[in-house]
Amino acid sequence: MPERRPLIAGNWKMNTKLDEATKLARSVADGVTLREKVEAECLVIPPFPWIVPVREVVAGSSVAVGAQKCAVEDAGAFTGEVSAAMLAPLCGYIVIGHSERRHVFGESDDVVAAKLQAVLRNGVTPILCVGETLEQRDGGEAGAVVERQISSALGEMPEDAIAGVVVAYEPVWAIGTGRAASPDDAARMADTIRATVAHIAGSQASSSVRILYGGSVNPANAGSFIGLEDIDGALVGGASLKAESFLEILDAAG
Ligand code: PGA
Repeated sequence: MPERRPLIAGNWKMNTKLDEATKLARSVADGVTLREKVEAECLVIPPFPWIVPVREVVAGSSVAVGAQKCAVEDAGAFTGEVSAAMLAPLCGYIVIGHSERRHVFGESDDVVAAKLQAVLRNGVTPILCVGETLEQRDGGEAGAVVERQISSALGEMPEDAIAGVVVAYEPVWAIGTGRAASPDDAARMADTIRATVAHIAGSQASSSVRILYGGSVNPANAGSFIGLEDIDGALVGGASLKAESFLEILDAAG
């Protein structure tokens, strides 16, 4: 069984002013540095313009910095886009297929798959987000939706690349709503995700993939997800905007 290091990632979304971002990053880095032992990897994912200043603030700590999205192409006439090639020297992780990108900005499974390729091509670790809407859940389709999202994104990838991917299960109805999935639901979906990855890339890759739960994670409920056998951490939105709550979630990971 490969060791899967827990990952606690804070997705700041389109929040924070510059001074708030650097202050938050400083508090997280100080909190991590002050702790004697931190099992989990700690990742902050600020908005694009704050990536460089946040990197400067956390330099010398064990806090990693990621990006919230990237372009399909590496360079060219794509006004406003930021490529994985540009982010690679700055970020260890790039989030792909977040439900807000899929549902607010219309990113299809094909676009998500192309972006995932861009991230891997540039040597960055993708955090691939998957999850069903409430309508799909009520229609009994949650498992099939997540299977389709995983197969579409990872289907064409070499097995060794798949082993390094992080998958975040984020049911759309749980994001920013204060209504988290139950640990049982999260465990069932993590099982579905691992089975789907095993089908595509074999059991070794499947047991190496880290699976995060995301959707209304807070200090009170984090332990019930992170303690599950198949869940290797959390993708945290709202609760990552306060250093204390984010650090408490980090503590829940051991
Ligand atoms: P939330 O967001 O923790 O605010 O629900 C999670 C996410 O969107 O990754």
